[in-house]
Amino acid sequence: MKRIQKMSPHLSNKIAAGEVIESPASVIKELVENSIDANSTQIQVEIEGGGRRSLKISDNGDGIHPDDIPLIFERHATSKLLKDEDLSHIASLGFRGEALASIAAVSKVQLLSRVMALPTGFKIQLLRGETFHQETIAANPGTTLIIEDLFYNLPGRKKFLKSEKSLNRDIHEVMNHFALSHPDIQFNYVNEGRLIFNTPGGNDLPGVIYTLYGRELFEHLLAFETQIGDVQITGYASDLGYYRGNRSLQYLFVNRRYVENRILLDSLNEAYRALIPGHKFPVFFLYLSVDPGVVDVNVHPSKLVVKIEGEEGIGLELSGTFREELYRKESHSRGVIAKEPTPPANAPREISTETIQPPLYDQLSLKETRGVKERQEIQTLSRHILDRNQEAARDKYQVFRNLNYVGQVLGTYLIFEKERAVFFIDQHAAHEKILYEGFMKRYATDSLDSQGLVTPEILGLSHEEIRLIENRMQDFSRFGYDLEIFGPSDLLVRGIPSLFTLDQAKTLLVELLDNYRQEDYRYEKLTEEAIIQHSCKKAIKGNSRIEPLEVEKLLEDLMTLEDPLTCPHGRPLIVELSSRELEKIFYRIQR
Ligand SMILES: Nc1ncnc2c1ncn2[C@@H]1O[C@H](COP(=O)(O)OP(=O)(O)O)[C@@H](O)[C@H]1O
Ligand SMILES: [Mg+2]
Repeated sequence: MKRIQKMSPHLSNKIAAGEVIESPASVIKELVENSIDANSTQIQVEIEGGGRRSLKISDNGDGIHPDDIPLIFERHATSKLLKDEDLSHIASLGFRGEALASIAAVSKVQLLSRVMALPTGFKIQLLRGETFHQETIAANPGTTLIIEDLFYNLPGRKKFLKSEKSLNRDIHEVMNHFALSHPDIQFNYVNEGRLIFNTPGGNDLPGVIYTLYGRELFEHLLAFETQIGDVQITGYASDLGYYRGNRSLQYLFVNRRYVENRILLDSLNEAYRALIPGHKFPVFFLYLSVDPGVVDVNVHPSKLVVKIEGEEGIGLELSGTFREELYRKESHSRGVIAKEPTPPANAPREISTETIQPPLYDQLSLKETRGVKERQEIQTLSRHILDRNQEAARDKYQVFRNLNYVGQVLGTYLIFEKERAVFFIDQHAAHEKILYEGFMKRYATDSLDSQGLVTPEILGLSHEEIRLIENRMQDFSRFGYDLEIFGPSDLLVRGIPSLFTLDQAKTLLVELLDNYRQEDYRYEKLTEEAIIQHSCKKAIKGNSRIEPLEVEKLLEDLMTLEDPLTCPHGRPLIVELSSRELEKIFYRIQR
């Protein structure tokens, strides 16, 4: 390993400044990155008190030479990046030479290290960045850092830190990222003395996924490998029989670094659209290998958000390839083999790259599809309504006229009779659609209402986020936020969109920020998504009783809608079962 040197001030100024150390999770991120950079094959992380009380990171890497001791905790002292040109070709993870300095300034630090070449190691202890103890010790090669009482001298920061539970959640996520991005390293993660995971190492990525997420998910994974232009893409993705309620299991790694890139993730989600239920999300572990020169990692101080040259094109092609693969899988399982054999551990199924034509049902806007059989049933039942509407488009309200309410079943479906048919309305979907169109109309005509908070909330954000908000103040107020910048890292929230609860409004604010970080975000699309989500949460839940009077009102409202036939996610909200179909079900007639 190279020895530590100070960078030129010219270079250090070039590097995105910013608070590296925002939370225990970010400390762990920096320290584990250091261990990785030091060629470790085993890294152990031990946490107490959400990382605020203590953090211990031990590795079996190259170690630090005792002659470098005076430089370790110096700002901009690094062994990793010394020439200006290096900045555009960053291969190692750390590159700012300020992590240890920043951490030492806000905590009590002990550092133990030994290089292989020397018979002994050293231990130093620091407080407020000043060394107060140093000794020679016997130790195995490698480095251990113990950080205690993080932010002890920054009471302000401590106050804005999240609950221990959410600190642990963030740390866990950071550890997941490392385990997934470095299957060659054996990670051992212990929290409050409890082993959380111990990955196998030895480049066994399937083994890592199995260790982190268990068998259920593992058995639904498809392996893939493809090349788009100069970008090598490999990874695992869930098949159509497995999905999650949010995007949290959608991972992207570029050159073995966990990153966020909406464009690529969105395009992968797009590949599953209409193949799994709306509001559900596939799982993927996507690994891109690209020339470091085409990745801009310096976008954000936390080094998470990257831009990749040509990412739109890559996303499009990736989405297309994926969709074909998924169709292919789907059409196979419709054949003789109803159930595929369980793959042996550590060997997810391969999918080849040959392509097939998407089946016709892609043209139908039916989204609820757990299995093919179920899909076909839904298709038969709702075809009448959608077809009738599509070809004729004469009177989309016709179906709702003169419906005779029979009752509610399963606490969710309203049953009606008319002429020689039975009609089912999904009460949740119907109500959701009514709310949705209402909101959209209000939003289109003017801005959303704001609701003042009795006690304004102070949100602690990063400098960069505060700057973003400052630049987007108009967008936020159009949305119904009443915000005031209260310092370099504090935001005063005086009012929130009246559509939302405070918690939702805070989440949305952060989501908006994430989106604004991308240059090509689409404000309108985002707004629509937020409104869909909100309508969904606010709508009458499935599984609740409804009075006949409310049913009447629901029908009336449906007849005022622009599009009364599908829910905001595109699923049918009314389904018809003709007497003929009933007769078929009872075999009173043949086909
Ligand atoms: N676990 C470790 N093993 C070996 N060397 C380390 C380790 N942690 C830190 N170092 C040394 O300390 C230097 C400073 O670390 P840091 O402040 O994180 O800056 P950077 O990682 O950007 O160089 C590193 O360049 C490296 O030489
Ligand atoms: Mg570092």
